[in-house]
Amino acid sequence: MRRPVSVAPPKGKLGILMPGMGAVGTTFMAGVELVRRGQSVPVGSLTQLGTIRLGKRTEARTPKIKDFVPLAKLDDLVFGGWDVFKDDAYQAASNAGVLDAKDLGKVQKFLKTIKPMKAAFDQHYVKNLSGPNVKKGKNKFDLAEQLREDIRNFKKKNKCDRLVMVWCASTETFLKPQDVHKDLKSFEKGMRSNDPSIAPSMLYAYAAISEGVPFANGAPNLTVDIPALEDYAKTKGVPIGGKDFKTGQTLMKTILAPGFKARMLGMNGWFSTNILGNRDGEVLDDPGSFKTKEESKLGALEYILQPKLYPDLYGTIHHKVRINYYPPRGDNKEGWDNIDIFGWLGYPMQIKVDFLCRDSILAAPIVLDLALFFDLAKRAGMHGIQEWLSFYFKSPMCAKELYPEHDLFIQSMKLKNTLRWMMGEDLITHLGAEYYD
Ligand SMILES: NC(=O)c1ccc[n+]([C@@H]2O[C@H](COP(=O)([O-])OP(=O)(O)OC[C@H]3O[C@@H](n4cnc5c(N)ncnc54)[C@H](O)[C@@H]3O)[C@@H](O)[C@H]2O)c1
Repeated sequence: MRRPVSVAPPKGKLGILMPGMGAVGTTFMAGVELVRRGQSVPVGSLTQLGTIRLGKRTEARTPKIKDFVPLAKLDDLVFGGWDVFKDDAYQAASNAGVLDAKDLGKVQKFLKTIKPMKAAFDQHYVKNLSGPNVKKGKNKFDLAEQLREDIRNFKKKNKCDRLVMVWCASTETFLKPQDVHKDLKSFEKGMRSNDPSIAPSMLYAYAAISEGVPFANGAPNLTVDIPALEDYAKTKGVPIGGKDFKTGQTLMKTILAPGFKARMLGMNGWFSTNILGNRDGEVLDDPGSFKTKEESKLGALEYILQPKLYPDLYGTIHHKVRINYYPPRGDNKEGWDNIDIFGWLGYPMQIKVDFLCRDSILAAPIVLDLALFFDLAKRAGMHGIQEWLSFYFKSPMCAKELYPEHDLFIQSMKLKNTLRWMMGEDLITHLGAEYYD
């Protein structure tokens, strides 16, 4: 056994702050409360249901992850957030229409107590959205200062020992990294001069880091994926990560594509289309926000299949992603995939996947796991990008000199090995030669 990393115990309350109390945020909060009351099971949550094998297969040591690493307990979680609408979490959850009235009724009183703080918002970055619950400020720096104050007040009022922030707000318009993002000095100057390349999500991330609060980005926005905030997070000892919760279609892609590649099956094309009718779908109906999402969704295949290494198999893939806003479907998205693969001697085959999924049902346990693991990372003294949590993201952030790892199975191994490393257990290589000596 190696020496474990020193991890501070999770004493006291952990506050989970969410910019964006929409479909995902409210489904997450309602679900945690139902689980705490013993009325539901946290399906989809690795931190709550997952196990981890330790040592050799013959040792039969497979504890639950939550018994192996010191995670915050569900009973110690408190929730808060910001939104451009004034609706409390119960009203917002009812509007989102993810959970049925029977489930929401059980937690109505609890959800009604969670009211959004005023948002730092600018419609320029989310064209198809406007609401009344918005901060006013001299400039972007002033708005960030107001967010910092919100964070401090929340912590005090709720007697929290620690906080984490998970971005559950809308997808912003597509932004490319600019000079203003290159270091903290330029970034702070840019906030004061209202530089258009600084989006509201960046103000939340800046405020979180300034207050020593880990920040996870559930949307594909650039947000914390800029050198200024990466360096700032390292200096302040704060874990950060993103981008974009890996749910429906991309989850399927990163499950299936590694399998085709492992068997050296070729691919000519992958056409993905989606219909969805929730507010997220409405926001993505704007070409600027769609572009941000499209970039995030397109990356996975290229990195998994490595066409440069396998030109005969993946050299000419046509990868297309379409998202169509179709109100009758609400949150129950339908994602179709047509996959054109080929086998021995180039003979073509087709695979069709029709995933009738529930977006926020898939996203809610990810919010929970990210909040608990980011808090763990902070207590373990890990800061900057948490690449070991790529498992949860469509478009994982990683060090400049690396390419992101998208393969769900490699991501899962990396996550579990990081936990073993943290606790001083041997890493699992799957070599297993010793069983046959
Ligand atoms: N549902 C999924 O499976 C899934 C998967 C991956 C990523 N995401 C992303 O997660 C985010 C949330 O998804 P959702 O389905 O809950 O959307 P939603 O539209 O129901 O909720 C987003 C909320 O954020 C609020 N908002 C927007 N800008 C804000 C700001 N600057 N400050 C505070 N609040 C703000 C909106 O008013 C809205 O209530 C989206 O960016 C979405 O793309 C969702």
